Amino acid sequence: MDYSFVKSLHGNFGILAFLLLIVLFLRTLYDFINKNEKLGTVRKISKYTTLTVHIQLILGVVFLIMNSFILENLSGKIAGSSVSYIEHMASNLIAIVLITIFNAKLKRADKITPSLLVILVVSMVLLSRVVPLIMNILK
Ligand code: HEM
Repeated sequence: MDYSFVKSLHGNFGILAFLLLIVLFLRTLYDFINKNEKLGTVRKISKYTTLTVHIQLILGVVFLIMNSFILENLSGKIAGSSVSYIEHMASNLIAIVLITIFNAKLKRADKITPSLLVILVVSMVLLSRVVPLIMNILK
């Protein structure tokens, strides 16, 4: 079965998701430092970041279902990297859950709290393992 289309969609959407997360982190930090109470901009960025990572999750699962090789070789490495399939999926799944929690909490917040920042930093650390994969795509 030809799954290269889903794979490249997941790869390129991954670049977008990672860039959005960096923008979201910078804006959250800015609003935190300035004790900003107008959170319209950060909420908008957060909404699009959450939407993108959810699409990314769906694409990842579709790709997984189409490519039974991965399900049979979960500890195998993603081509050209030292990241194993299982590590990639588990860490990104947790990161996506954290981003979703951040987005939900942000909707009800009237300012950026340290705990909101911590949630975002942890999700960035978890997602940082996609950097070598992104570098491979951009090569
Ligand atoms: C925001 C979260 C995620 C990002 C940024 C991301 C990003 C990436 C990138 C950049 C690649 C390399 C693609 C390529 O070499 O063309 C990749 C591969 C892969 N991703 Fe994700 N991913 C995420 C979440 C997930 C999730 C949740 C799953 C599964 C449930 C998943 C399943 C896979 C699989 C199976 C591959 C291997 C492709 C191969 O065989 O080379 N990803 N991902």
